Amino acid sequence: MQLLTTRADAKKYSLEARSKGKKIGFVPTMGALHKGHLSLVEFSAQQNDITIVSIFVNPIQFNNSEDLQKYPRNLDKDLELLQSQHCDVVFAPSVEEMYPKPPTEIYSFGPLEEVMEGYYRPGHFNGVATVVRRFFDILHPHRAYFGEKDYQQMIIIRKMTEQLQLPIEIIGCPIVREIDGLAMSSRNLRLSEFERAQASFIYQNLVFARDHAGIIPVEDLKNEIIQRFQKHPAFRLEYFEIADATTLQPIKDWDEAKSIRAFIAAYLGEVRLIDNMLLKTS
Ligand code: PAJ
Repeated sequence: MQLLTTRADAKKYSLEARSKGKKIGFVPTMGALHKGHLSLVEFSAQQNDITIVSIFVNPIQFNNSEDLQKYPRNLDKDLELLQSQHCDVVFAPSVEEMYPKPPTEIYSFGPLEEVMEGYYRPGHFNGVATVVRRFFDILHPHRAYFGEKDYQQMIIIRKMTEQLQLPIEIIGCPIVREIDGLAMSSRNLRLSEFERAQASFIYQNLVFARDHAGIIPVEDLKNEIIQRFQKHPAFRLEYFEIADATTLQPIKDWDEAKSIRAFIAAYLGEVRLIDNMLLKTS
């Protein structure tokens, strides 16, 4: 496994691999790797000749400076983990390498970015699109792997590749969970033991939503879950939405969309957690 830190070296590596007819799979990450990330690496290794993993805590996608400051970073441990996976190259550039000048790119994703994460984290998806596009330009992967854990991000990146007509296949990968259902996330490391013990409440509510999908009216189900969070002493719910899995727009009736997902963002103490689940597909 090679570690590359400059754009020039990463570009050179990719161009050489492509010229030899190799298929390149790319897994963008912000490090503090866990089994969720590693599952993406495994999907890529199965479908491509070469797998490149980027590790870069992208400052311009954080709209809260404390979240950026406290974001867990452990490159040595990440490299050790990747060493035992089918990863060929780790690209871990510095902030100066990715942004020698303040970035000015502006992306527009219409209604997709007006809801949920886009609504509550203004500028977040512009920062994500900026860095992912730059990685795509450097690495020219054939396929790129994104987790359904960040479902809206995956849909937005797919939209970006369509808008720019990039010849890159965006592959969505299922959410990897802890035994109690909590979706794996680098931010889970910031939970206290007490908080961690309560964190599966999010998953339990998604399961509750799935169990009642199509049975009780959408609004009633939403209200029930909002009330459950209001009664919980440790959580502060930011949003709970039931939405069309393709357009991400909230639905009012169960027959309004073919595929329907529930989306949650909630603070547990100071840590903001997100999760989602497929409720119904026809
Ligand atoms: P990060 O949060 O490190 O996640 C990297 C990738 O791993 C994302 O595609 C994310 O959806 C996926 N992932 C995280 N937890 C997962 C889980 N429990 N199961 C399955 N997949 C999971 O998402 C980002 O970084 C950044 O926004 C990035 C795309 C790298 C741009 O900076």
